[in-house]
Amino acid sequence: MDQTKRFPPSAEPQPAKRVRLRTRVAQGGGLLLILGVGVLAIAFLVAALFGGIGGDRSAGLKVPVTPALVARGAYLAQAGDCAACHTPPGGHDMAGGLAVVSPIGVIYSTNITPDVKTGIGGESYGDFERAVRRGLLRSGQTLYPAMPYPSFSRVTDDDMAALYAYFMHGVAPVSNANKPEQIAWPLSLRWPLTYWRWMFAPPVRAFTPAAGQNRLVARGAYLVEGLGHCGACHTPRAFSLQEVALSPRDGDHYLSGSHFNGWFAPNLRSEAVTGLGRWTGGDIATFLGSGRTDKYTAFGEMGVVIQHSTQFVSKSDLVAVAAFLRTLHAAPDNGSATPGLSTSAKLVSDASIRSGLQLYGDNCSVCHQDSGLGAVAGFPALDGNPVVNAEDPSSVIHIVLAGGSVVQTADDTSALVMPPFGDSLNDQSVADLVTYLRASWGNHASEVTAAEVAAVRQALPPAASSAP
Ligand code: HEC
Ligand code: HEC
Ligand code: HEC
Repeated sequence: MDQTKRFPPSAEPQPAKRVRLRTRVAQGGGLLLILGVGVLAIAFLVAALFGGIGGDRSAGLKVPVTPALVARGAYLAQAGDCAACHTPPGGHDMAGGLAVVSPIGVIYSTNITPDVKTGIGGESYGDFERAVRRGLLRSGQTLYPAMPYPSFSRVTDDDMAALYAYFMHGVAPVSNANKPEQIAWPLSLRWPLTYWRWMFAPPVRAFTPAAGQNRLVARGAYLVEGLGHCGACHTPRAFSLQEVALSPRDGDHYLSGSHFNGWFAPNLRSEAVTGLGRWTGGDIATFLGSGRTDKYTAFGEMGVVIQHSTQFVSKSDLVAVAAFLRTLHAAPDNGSATPGLSTSAKLVSDASIRSGLQLYGDNCSVCHQDSGLGAVAGFPALDGNPVVNAEDPSSVIHIVLAGGSVVQTADDTSALVMPPFGDSLNDQSVADLVTYLRASWGNHASEVTAAEVAAVRQALPPAASSAP
């Protein structure tokens, strides 16, 4: 497994920007420079003086630590997928060190075991609460939002107490010094992050269900918006990298799908073709609990989420998550499932579809069937599959190039494999093939170009990207 993550999940490799300062300043605009420096100095002072405000550093745990509390904290840590970032592959539980690649450089997740010297063993409940819900380090500096504290701000006091009890008493202390981030000055300065936090991280407030929300849906909303931080991948981000919506109350872009690093985390709203409109609540809960439904399987980053987190979430909580997702209505003009032309009608007219059909028959139909319906138990259907129909084809291209294997869970350890085709098919062939998948059977999504395939290929880890 790749040892790195990217932040934001939506960050694409940025071409180096050439910035040319046509310096009026040099032509006697020294006043501007002085003004600029002055504003920066004031901004710095404000951030330094007031940046750390929020929460109570000296607060202690108000409830007695019992085995039941520790066990509940362990469950919540799984629901929050803390291990995805704080336990690197092959590393010790929660001892940190995972490289998170961001557009400005590399950040490392920290050691959150109770080791006093290198971990959080010396932290009070208040310190822990401020880090997890408010994005504050002990020093008062702001954490990089690669740590999803804007979502965690919704976690209740009771759940925070259980998490703290677990991290202090249920996790083994491991000595592993935190690695300094690799970000060039001046971007390495943390104080500007304070402003980001002020602008984009919501205040910590007691979780209140939306008006008219039933208890099941409210529980689902709490898990999805909060600990589950599903929006970190499934909600689009703005230019300034914050998620454009942290809950349905912020608008219809919440969980409407987002691109990151050669993947597309699809729309989880109710669009019939590109969203979960045709999934039942039971399908969603089964998918999160086992990594598959009778039609589809999880892959890529979602497989990792299921493996480390949602497979351990209780059936009743998964049903709540599903019930909440079912309440996210389709965006007004996006939900209609107007059937496209039939495949045969397009065959005559479109050379790329014809080449795709040939490639499909040669390489894919043995497992996914001519009908595109796959086979029960592991070979997913491509017909009607939201990932195949997504506006952004990155995830389909990605799995065709790099292959995948069905998530192994505690209940099911069979490992069905989708072979990689990145070596045997060039960009144009993959484009033809994926165009064919997106136009066949009941699917109707746009054509894919060789350039789109090339872009996904470029973002693959080296081993999977050899062919042109
Ligand atoms: C998507 C990745 C990710 C997830 C999920 C995540 N973290 Fe973090 N966390 C980070 C990163 C990266 C940092 C360091 C950020 C920095 O250096 O500014 C961090 C920092 C922290 C810190 C501050 C550490 C210190 O040294 O004081 C705490 C505490 C923490 N995380 C707890 C948690 C808990 C508890 C969970 C689960 C509920 C969690 N994290 C989930 C990425 C993550
Ligand atoms: C680290 C990024 C990441 C996080 C966090 C994440 N997902 Fe996903 N998710 C993906 C990607 C990528 C896919 C597409 C691959 C697939 O379908 O398995 C996906 C697919 C899905 C699908 C299948 C959708 C479809 O159309 O096939 C569901 C349902 C889903 N996610 C629900 C969730 C829920 C609920 C959460 C929060 C508990 C969550 N995801 C958190 C990345 C993520
Ligand atoms: C040997 C059997 C096999 C062959 C051949 C095969 N696949 Fe797959 N495919 C699978 C399995 C198994 C999965 C589930 C993988 C996972 O969940 O990580 C899968 C997953 C997929 C997915 C993701 C769908 C989802 O919801 O999980 C797509 C898209 C896909 N295959 C397309 C293709 C294409 C296109 C070809 C031909 C180039 C192909 N497959 C050839 C077995 C196969």
